[in-house]
Amino acid sequence: MWGQIVLMTDSGTERGFVSAGPASLAPGTSETRIVGGREVIVARAQDGAYHAVASLCSHAQLSLAGGRVRGASIVCPHHGARFCLKTGGVLGPPAHEGILAYPTRVEDGEVMLWPL
Ligand code: FES
Repeated sequence: MWGQIVLMTDSGTERGFVSAGPASLAPGTSETRIVGGREVIVARAQDGAYHAVASLCSHAQLSLAGGRVRGASIVCPHHGARFCLKTGGVLGPPAHEGILAYPTRVEDGEVMLWPL
């Protein structure tokens, strides 16, 4: 279980985990959601764990929406690059750079992510 983590920004406002919507996905699926004005991909790995990553593929900056979830990775629907859902690292070409992976947890039925 995670403890409550809250940081203060330079302007003195609180910053912490924010809701990315309900934890309602079936294992092996993903959904595009808007969190704090940013589009993110919320995915549930086949082991049941939730993850959240940036919505744009690093190969050609196209959306990962509709990408197939394989184990704990997501496959770009455009040219097949594969990214680790836990770290955002590249697992398969043609991408060479990773994507942003947000620290994620589930709390009271909500997927919570740390907005990096
Ligand atoms: S845009 Fe994702 S692999 Fe090309």
